[in-house]
Amino acid sequence: MSQLFQRKPMADLVVDEADTSRSLKRVLGAGDLIMLAIGAVIGAGIFGAIGTAAAGQIGPNGEIIRHAAGPALIFSFILLGGACALAGLCYAELASMIPQAGGAYAYSYAALGELVAWIIGWDLILEYAIGNIAVAISWADYFTTLMRSFGVEFPVYLTTAYRTALLSSNPDVHGLLQTAPSIIGIPILLNIPALLICLFVTWLLLRGARESARANAIMVVIKLAVLALFIGVGVMNINPANYTPFAPNGFTGIHQGAAIVFFAYIGFDAISTAAEETYDPKRNLPMGILGGLAICTLIYVIVGAVITGMVPYTELAVADPLARALEMVGYTRVGAIVAFGATVSMAAVLLVFTYGQPRIFFAMARDGLLPKWVARVDPKTRIPWEATLATGVITGLAAMVGDAAETYDLTNIGTLFAFALVCSGVLVLRIVEPDRERPFKVPFVWIIAPLGIAACLFIMVGLPAQAWRVFGWWLLIGLSIYAVYGYRHSKLRIGQ
Ligand code: ALA
Repeated sequence: MSQLFQRKPMADLVVDEADTSRSLKRVLGAGDLIMLAIGAVIGAGIFGAIGTAAAGQIGPNGEIIRHAAGPALIFSFILLGGACALAGLCYAELASMIPQAGGAYAYSYAALGELVAWIIGWDLILEYAIGNIAVAISWADYFTTLMRSFGVEFPVYLTTAYRTALLSSNPDVHGLLQTAPSIIGIPILLNIPALLICLFVTWLLLRGARESARANAIMVVIKLAVLALFIGVGVMNINPANYTPFAPNGFTGIHQGAAIVFFAYIGFDAISTAAEETYDPKRNLPMGILGGLAICTLIYVIVGAVITGMVPYTELAVADPLARALEMVGYTRVGAIVAFGATVSMAAVLLVFTYGQPRIFFAMARDGLLPKWVARVDPKTRIPWEATLATGVITGLAAMVGDAAETYDLTNIGTLFAFALVCSGVLVLRIVEPDRERPFKVPFVWIIAPLGIAACLFIMVGLPAQAWRVFGWWLLIGLSIYAVYGYRHSKLRIGQ
């Protein structure tokens, strides 16, 4: 039993950088990290989920799945900004103390032991890989809409996934199960754009970390410009009457809204997975995490205030709320530009997530918890080539047949759980390793970290029961895999 909770000695976490076959190359600075954070954070959440949070969600049989937040959505963003800042401070302390690929996984190994580390590594798949699937599907939605505005129409069975058709309450979409071409009775319903964007992003990443950061920087500039355009045009078209009622469902709406738009914040922690490729990580990581988070929170609050002032919140229950709001106030062309920006923004999110996932797998495999090939580093580019390729192809295939709505909540619950464990990890390490050097220290840690845990649990409570059930199954499957493979191959346990 004690072996299951064996902690990795901190000395083992210092990677031998001279061994180029087992370590990654340091090429990123604080500016790159802030750009990576913005790249990871601003995407499907603000361009898509914001509409569902503001307008609420109704099920296929007319049942209320989520209450509308209305214009009070800005309080959801402020609440989430606060919660993420608490977790972000904890991430910053651990990331600066344990500058290693693997992020929360590596921290838990040192703080909470192997079993918890495995659980968190497994749980992070929900954040990165499953999150990626949701973003790729959302990207494909915007892309097909954008193409349509240029008169390019794709066959619907090549842009609609089987699972989406199966779960849809829209008779036209559900009917595709009967009308789509089929092979031996199985309807061919594939979201090809979602697959292609995953493969494209993977190809970019395989060219190396430096090149990926550059591509990301260009995409970040485009997304910020497009949001500035939205805010600029939107602010001139605010009708104060739209702010009444301000909070149609009181705190319930704000809470349930927060549980969905939490998706908009996911990703700022992803840059902690770049610790091993960052120079001066002790200074640059905290700056990157907190700086990126502050900028994104400010943008979200402004976008939330503007969009709910432009149109009645009830009009926002659409897949492309920002573009739709602009259309409704008479700016259709600006709406198309914003839709273009949305596709670029989401591509940037995909880039950072597809960057983070293989590095977590890499760290787990280096510890023996996953097969050896996952930890192989390409001798030339020094990136985990095979793990990157496998991640890109598998998420692409899943996005090709999967449904976005199913994946959002699952991503949120998994990420919030990881955040809560990271906050706990900071406290545990303060107790068991009090003298260890901490280049960045969480101020008032005995208040901040417990508040961080409480905030994450509180947001999790706002998620539907279905998400909790799937999450429970996910953890059970992960524990079984650990029992069959990781437990037997763990380098720490077998003393390699
Ligand atoms: N925060 C990322 C997004 O909104 C996941 O797309």
